[in-house]
Amino acid sequence: MLDTTTTRSWRDYDRASGYEHIEVLPLNGAVLAEIRGVDLTKPVPDEVREEIMRAFAENLVIFFRGQTGLTREQHIACAEMFGPLQKIPHIFSVDDYPDVQIVERKPDDTRMVVGNGFHNDSTYLETPPTSVTMRAVEVPDHGGDTAFANLYLAYEALSEPMRAFCDTLVGVNSASVLFGSGADQKRVMMKEMDASEGDAEVEHPIVCVHPRTGLRHLFLNPVYTRRLKGFSEAESQLILRFLHDHIKQMAFTGRVRWEKDTVLVWDNWAAQHSAIADYQGQYRYLERVTTGHVELRGVNG
Ligand code: SIN
Repeated sequence: MLDTTTTRSWRDYDRASGYEHIEVLPLNGAVLAEIRGVDLTKPVPDEVREEIMRAFAENLVIFFRGQTGLTREQHIACAEMFGPLQKIPHIFSVDDYPDVQIVERKPDDTRMVVGNGFHNDSTYLETPPTSVTMRAVEVPDHGGDTAFANLYLAYEALSEPMRAFCDTLVGVNSASVLFGSGADQKRVMMKEMDASEGDAEVEHPIVCVHPRTGLRHLFLNPVYTRRLKGFSEAESQLILRFLHDHIKQMAFTGRVRWEKDTVLVWDNWAAQHSAIADYQGQYRYLERVTTGHVELRGVNG
């Protein structure tokens, strides 16, 4: 018999108080907090780092405004606070900085906006990225926000029998839609990839226990989670569709408005994100550093 009881809940967190070295300003009731009092262009003292890590665990997505002059080396050092570096195979890197990857859209680009639609990044990998630290270099005057969804909240809002059912599920993930055989790789800006890498399948639990909080969260997304292990195609699609729609509910989401020199960090396991495609004709350029190399853990270890 599975233990499906969760005695603690994400709602128990007091997301804003008890900090001595930083100010933490949650943006809404679900996800995202602005952190004030930190200059990432300077070494971050241990006691400040500890508080940043707490704010990150409890808010899932944190951001720092006005980090003017942050160098790429400092950007990498900032990302390393959240774990060991792990590049995304299909994203272009900045020359001489393989770990700094590019999120760029030119005004005349009419292809699909990369990252539009809620997803976790690259869950086709054995160890999906744990965090992404993104720095805004040039952003539209308005538009081009990024939205986030809290996957602890989405899990906890399910009924007890549905949580128990989801705890048993295994998702089969691949990048087939992006660069598997038959995929049109020209639809979005990305590196040319080998189709066999796109077709390769990786299994991840649909409910994971987060190493930072010990709380359970959903872990599936419409881009990479192609089906459920052991279920028919029709059954898989029905269950996945229900969960994808459930996750997108407004009450679990929030969005950030980018400003030049904003540095934002998202938890790529317990949060989904979506690049909002509402700035056609404008330029948007951000740089991102990803961490990973951690094994996911399901409810049964
Ligand atoms: C992404 O999904 O990796 C990009 C997010 C964004 O451009 O806001």
